[in-house]
Amino acid sequence: MKQLIAFLVLVVLAISGCANSEEESAASLPEGDPSRGETLFSQYIDGAPVCSACHTIDGSTLVGPSLQDYGETASTRKPDTSAEDYTYTSIVRPGAFVVDGFPNAMYSQYRQRLTDRQIADLIAYLLSL
Ligand code: HEC
Repeated sequence: MKQLIAFLVLVVLAISGCANSEEESAASLPEGDPSRGETLFSQYIDGAPVCSACHTIDGSTLVGPSLQDYGETASTRKPDTSAEDYTYTSIVRPGAFVVDGFPNAMYSQYRQRLTDRQIADLIAYLLSL
């Protein structure tokens, strides 16, 4: 019986592990507003660190990559992944794809702190850069 339980636990872990590695999709988000996103980018939301503490948009590097010309970058980072989906994953599960030359150091709780609308606004803003 114990072995059966251990086996079942393993199966559940394996299944949830697979679900986690699936591609995130921005498809279920509401439409984003770039100007609201611009404000959010340098604003504390619900205790989460501000994006602009780690990212500039002028080409200089803080903790994370500069997001200058990010609209272009986002569409070429991962083959077969749209700019929207790449950006969505970058925000809600930053460890899923770590940009070359940078540490896996992005704050990882934005999904819990931001609403879908706020995430959509941020994506719209970043893709306008
Ligand atoms: C504590 C520092 C930190 C904070 C705060 C932070 N990031 Fe990041 N971010 C990083 C680092 C480091 C990377 C590079 C490693 C990686 O890809 O996860 C990164 C990567 C990214 C990327 C991928 C960039 C690329 O060139 O492919 C995006 C998009 C991004 N962050 C958006 C955001 C947004 C939006 C916020 C605010 C909601 C934010 N980040 C807050 C550190 C941070």
